[in-house]
Amino acid sequence: MGERDVDAIVALLAAIAREGNYIATEWPFDVGARARALRDALLLRRSVGWIAVDGRELVGELSVIDVTQEEPEIGMIVGAPHRGRGIGRALLERAFAWARTNGKPALTLRVFPDNERARALYCGTGFVDVSLQPDGIVRRDGTGRDVLLMRRPIDEPGRT
Ligand SMILES: CC(C)(COP(=O)(O)OP(=O)(O)OC[C@H]1O[C@@H](n2cnc3c(N)ncnc32)[C@H](O)[C@@H]1OP(=O)(O)O)[C@@H](O)C(=O)NCCC(=O)NCCS
Repeated sequence: MGERDVDAIVALLAAIAREGNYIATEWPFDVGARARALRDALLLRRSVGWIAVDGRELVGELSVIDVTQEEPEIGMIVGAPHRGRGIGRALLERAFAWARTNGKPALTLRVFPDNERARALYCGTGFVDVSLQPDGIVRRDGTGRDVLLMRRPIDEPGRT
């Protein structure tokens, strides 16, 4: 993921926010501000990430939100027409390799408990439930949504 990808990433994020249910980001949001924030994070190397492309189309992305965290949190999205093709799994494998190389003991994420596809992917790639945060995300309309914190330990190279 580089600066050149930022506009396409934010466009994909907007499409998924419009779907309504899966991610904390709600539509509408300030697209320009979001793009600036992501560009800054990449420039400052606070974030790293990877994209999935199909031909010239950006169809998915995974970001490590703050690489300075001991157990960094990740976020990921795959465009609706491209789900269920293994793209999410491939992006996660790339993130696990990054964590291993960078000495991170684990990666973490937050997911809505009713996001069944995401839960299937995370449980199938070694994430375990840590805690349920009741009303952990407050929507614009003031309602709360429970959010599940998950953690994926990273095995050290050479350890059996
Ligand atoms: C969650 C998401 C990133 C997964 O990406 P993906 O490319 O679809 O994932 P994959 O194809 O690699 O794997 C999906 C897994 O879910 C399972 N799955 C597929 N369709 C499913 C469905 N309809 N319901 C439940 N599980 C399903 C598959 O069995 C697969 O597991 P496997 O690898 O063990 O076979 C993607 O669906 C997405 O972006 N969703 C909307 C945004 C979102 O929810 N982001 C995550 C927020 S925490």
